[in-house]
Amino acid sequence: MQSRIGICLPFLLLLIALIPNFTASQILFQGFNWASSTKEGGWWNFFRSSVPQLASAGITHVWLPPASQSGSDGPQGYLPGRLYDLDTSKYGNKNELKALVKDLKDKGIECIADIVINHRSGEKQDASGKFCIFEGGTPDARLDWDASFICSDDDVCDGKGKPDTGISWGKVPDIDHTNPKVQSDLSDWMNWMKTEVGFVGFRFDMVLGYGPAYSKIYMQNTKPSFAVAEHWNRTNDNNSEAQRREIASWIDAAGGEFKAFDFPTKGVLQAALRDKALGRMKDSNGGAPGLIGLKPGNAVTFIDNHDTYSQDLWPFPREQVMQGYVYILTHPGVPTVFYDHFFEWNLTHISNLIAIRSKNGIKPTSSLRILAADPDRYIAAIDEKVIAKIGPSDDVGNLIPSNFKLVLSGEHYAVWEKQA
Ligand SMILES: *[C@@H]1O[C@H](CO)[C@@H](O)[C@H](O)[C@H]1NC(C)=O
Ligand SMILES: *[C@@H]1O[C@H](CO)[C@@H](O)[C@H](O)[C@H]1NC(C)=O
Ligand SMILES: *[C@@H]1O[C@H](CO)[C@@H](O)[C@H](O)[C@H]1NC(C)=O
Repeated sequence: MQSRIGICLPFLLLLIALIPNFTASQILFQGFNWASSTKEGGWWNFFRSSVPQLASAGITHVWLPPASQSGSDGPQGYLPGRLYDLDTSKYGNKNELKALVKDLKDKGIECIADIVINHRSGEKQDASGKFCIFEGGTPDARLDWDASFICSDDDVCDGKGKPDTGISWGKVPDIDHTNPKVQSDLSDWMNWMKTEVGFVGFRFDMVLGYGPAYSKIYMQNTKPSFAVAEHWNRTNDNNSEAQRREIASWIDAAGGEFKAFDFPTKGVLQAALRDKALGRMKDSNGGAPGLIGLKPGNAVTFIDNHDTYSQDLWPFPREQVMQGYVYILTHPGVPTVFYDHFFEWNLTHISNLIAIRSKNGIKPTSSLRILAADPDRYIAAIDEKVIAKIGPSDDVGNLIPSNFKLVLSGEHYAVWEKQA
């Protein structure tokens, strides 16, 4: 016995030492773009071939697009109707989705479902000919709803529910989330997505569409291990300070467990790079100007997504995308890698940066010390272990200590690691 413990103990200690690093360096991958629903042979089938590459790059979570049957104008899944019907999605059928999720899980990668619950496409016409009657998806009748489940001030239907508690989608009916049956029906469906398909968490689409109190209820009822909210106030795209405060108060109002996409970091970073105004990357307290400067443990950083890039709504300046990745992959928050940048632009330094992040145990709440934030250069130390520089100036002066070694560089960026 004694000798066995003697042998096991070092391994146990090693394992314990490694665990924080595994959980620390969570990397989310957005596993689709706006064109994925048109993929010949189906996206679920096609994407399986990407799994080995994602695993060797160190991706820990993959966000998949909305998998339910979706209205005729919404092949991408963002106008879902029969939520339990996973067989008629343009991405493929339920068995194909399950096979993909299993492949990812076998490689240690968890899957995040895209949950669109603000609005819902009607299945049948009401007496006035509008599509305001819902069906859950055969053979499940739990989501068979009528006008009493639609907000009373809806733009499309003559809703008989309570007034909307958030902004309206406009094209298809907005659901009344104050209705307890809506809450329990949707929670049941989300839990079914976990048990039936194998998702461990959710990306909540358009959370501004209903009050944060309801998001909190869905969190409590479904307990995802990873939940990220799309809180995107487009009228605030150029005001990262106002936007990050809105997101932070939304997180508090929704119970504090949520993560949220860091739209403020994307906005200020892309504007600062484009305008050669990197001084903006330091806020008035000397911290980061995005959500990572307020609630780093709740921030999911990203450069572009299926909306901002694919639909050209608010794209990151093309030449500066790699500098963007140097920032998010070395900084606090949970960074996201976008499908196009990894598989279509083939930005191989993304994998190098993930390796540096993981090796140094950089985590969402790692410390950040900004060494320079001038118009043409931004330099920061993370956990006093990694130093990152972005911006056109290569003048680092005496800011890099001699025990730091250059480990990665490219056009207008460089990364140093502290030597043992
Ligand atoms: C969006 O931003 C605008 C401008 O700052 C603000 O007036 C509005 O309240 C915000 N909307 C939401 C839903 O947070
Ligand atoms: C933000 O600024 C850019 C560039 O100045 C401009 O094109 C864009 O319309 C602005 N967006 C908003 C929402 O004000
Ligand atoms: C990236 O790699 C893919 C797969 O090898 C290839 O089809 C594509 O043309 C490459 N893109 C660029 C921009 O090199």
